[in-house]
Amino acid sequence: MNATAAHIERVEGPDKVTGRARYMGDERPGRMAHAAIVPAQIGKGFVDGVDTTLAERVPGFLLALTLENMQRFEPIQFGQTGGHASQSFQPLQSNRVAYRGQAVAVVMAETLEAAQEAAWLVKVSYRREPFAVQLDAPGGESVALPTAIPLPPFGEKVTGDAEAAMKTAEVTVDGLYETPAQHQNPIELLTTIAAWDGDKLTVHEPTQNSEAVRNGVATQLAVPPANVRVVSTLLGGSFGQRNSMLPWTAIVAVAAKRLARPVKLTITRGQLYHAAAFRAASRQRIRLGARPDGTIVAALHETQQQTSRFDTMPPLQAHITAHLYGIDNFRSVTRVTRLDTQTPGFMRAPHEMPASFAFEGAMDELAVALGMDPVALRLKNDTDRDPISKKAFSSRHVAACLRRGAERFEWSRRDPRPGSMRTPQGALIGMGVALGTYKASTSPAVAKVRLLANGTVEASVAGHEMGQGMRTALAITVAGPLGIAPAAVQLTIGDTIAPPQHLTAGSWGTASAVPAIESAATELRTRLIGLARTDERSPLRGARAEDLRLTEGRVVHADGRRIDFAQLLAAVGRPFVEAQTTRVAPGQNEQALARVASGRTSQVGPEYPGFVSFSYVAHFSEVHIDPATRHIRMHRSVAVIDCGKVVSPTTSRSQALGGLVWGIGAALREVSEVDPRFGGFVNTDLAEYVIPVHADMGEMTVDFIDIPDTQLNTAGVKGLGEVVCVGAAASIANAVFHATGHRFRKLPIRIDDVLAATTRGAG
Ligand code: MOS
Repeated sequence: MNATAAHIERVEGPDKVTGRARYMGDERPGRMAHAAIVPAQIGKGFVDGVDTTLAERVPGFLLALTLENMQRFEPIQFGQTGGHASQSFQPLQSNRVAYRGQAVAVVMAETLEAAQEAAWLVKVSYRREPFAVQLDAPGGESVALPTAIPLPPFGEKVTGDAEAAMKTAEVTVDGLYETPAQHQNPIELLTTIAAWDGDKLTVHEPTQNSEAVRNGVATQLAVPPANVRVVSTLLGGSFGQRNSMLPWTAIVAVAAKRLARPVKLTITRGQLYHAAAFRAASRQRIRLGARPDGTIVAALHETQQQTSRFDTMPPLQAHITAHLYGIDNFRSVTRVTRLDTQTPGFMRAPHEMPASFAFEGAMDELAVALGMDPVALRLKNDTDRDPISKKAFSSRHVAACLRRGAERFEWSRRDPRPGSMRTPQGALIGMGVALGTYKASTSPAVAKVRLLANGTVEASVAGHEMGQGMRTALAITVAGPLGIAPAAVQLTIGDTIAPPQHLTAGSWGTASAVPAIESAATELRTRLIGLARTDERSPLRGARAEDLRLTEGRVVHADGRRIDFAQLLAAVGRPFVEAQTTRVAPGQNEQALARVASGRTSQVGPEYPGFVSFSYVAHFSEVHIDPATRHIRMHRSVAVIDCGKVVSPTTSRSQALGGLVWGIGAALREVSEVDPRFGGFVNTDLAEYVIPVHADMGEMTVDFIDIPDTQLNTAGVKGLGEVVCVGAAASIANAVFHATGHRFRKLPIRIDDVLAATTRGAG
């Protein structure tokens, strides 16, 4: 990290805090009509009839789209199996009600209020069918993952003979861990604004994947993708919710076409629990076997996770647990259970948060069974080669994360006996540790950097800014070689007029875009210096390259002569100078780029030719538990992170703090409530979906190893967004064990759970 970078704030920060930042829902094209969906009010079945008579009488009513008058779309595919969509099932294409909350009609009106009122007044009659919304419910259909998706990336993780080795282990643990469904709940609501200009469609929609939305809508409407532009330049959070095309974008486009005016649909907070993807509920059984010295000889990781009836969202829990420790005998067994909800999807560390809760909980159990310190147990099982592929890691600073974290947390003050530590006020103190890891993936990227005649620097690359700090990381990277201020870089990202926009997710955004734009900016710098010293019209002609540098928007000679970028371009008679670079991941060829342009994902990793790459984190948590109420309060947490090079210190720190907050949410608060009588989810707002507030957070410390991984890419970046919340919940759950002596294997851990366990049992 260079010294100046540390002082660079979030580049879009001033716009955000002054209200100038424009989110996609802020777009207000002239004559815009408003839409509202009519959600299905049964758990599953069929629509028998839709009566819009009353809705049509609402002043300002414009149009109701129902199965009767809706056009048939071309089919689309689920994103995980090569398509563009959050799910293959599309509403208003048949009378099927696949799940509660699915749109069965969409109403348009002059105002939002009129649209919502009219939507309320649509009368729908249904034929009901039995449904299943819980993992163990009758009617749920359980399938082995390799059967559901018979493709190598979804195969089981196996090395050695875990069953045989388990039999030889002197010390074993065996636990069943449960995690609930959760919804991402970004503060910005989901909005689609569609506007036609002749046969050209423009969609403003907050998405992490504008190219998929473009190609998905074009597919559904059977129009050329070139006729569709999707704009997603700034999102108010996303966390995986806007990872693919959502099920209403094309419907809004149809409404705009029929009305011959722009249409805006905003999904309300209550509706999003059924409208968008979510983190699937899971059950995991973890068995570990070790020798008395702490060497783990066998691990078995069984996962059962929900998916929808029509798509398989693959559980990939073992994709971290098989690679984290040097365990020679490992086997995963993975099943999906088909239930009657929308297709689950990605939510920040979608599989890895549940995986780490289970596996790192089992590690804590093993430490107790061995009578060994849990930090020492993790250090004992550290490894320098990937146990599955047998390849080396491109970088791995697990031991450094653990050691630095233990020191900053003062782990040595911990008395290992559960329930043995108290605050002066009498609260039970619990201290827990857990590791987290997340794959370091890379997607192909095209980057352009251009200096205009007026001195402006424009840059574009694949990327979507959802608050994680992408714009700041890119601006810093472009500004450095050109000697300008990061805030002066005009970035175009998330917009399909820019170079192909690969999905920004899976923590590969910075690792993919930064090396590409760094090389374009460096190339532009070389060109500018070349022009300055070789063009016969340049006042610096004849200078040696090593005497020229770029600073403050000028080319400066060692002897003090200088020329502004704008003056240089005027002198040499160029309207602009630009550089473009293309980067593919190690082992990829240029065909990977064609996939990006078609709106399909094209990332690779964590396994590359010759090496394997993961980011890591060590979490340390201290909880205080009130002896009377059993209220669990986070007192402090320390996270030490190995994400390769830290490009943007300010936004990286912010992103890491956010990950810790997510850990608290997962451990102690968040659950999408399921009621088998009704189907779907029953939360409707942020009062019923409880997330941590500021008073819940305690003192948080994040620290970075900050050693570049130059084997993975030239910028040395691995990835940060998700690893920070892997293991965070586990460290809290382990701290709750340490405080109470009770192992809570089901998330979230709530007061009533602690009360029940600690009054019933010996504790
Ligand atoms: Mo992220 S959950 O991979 O969008």
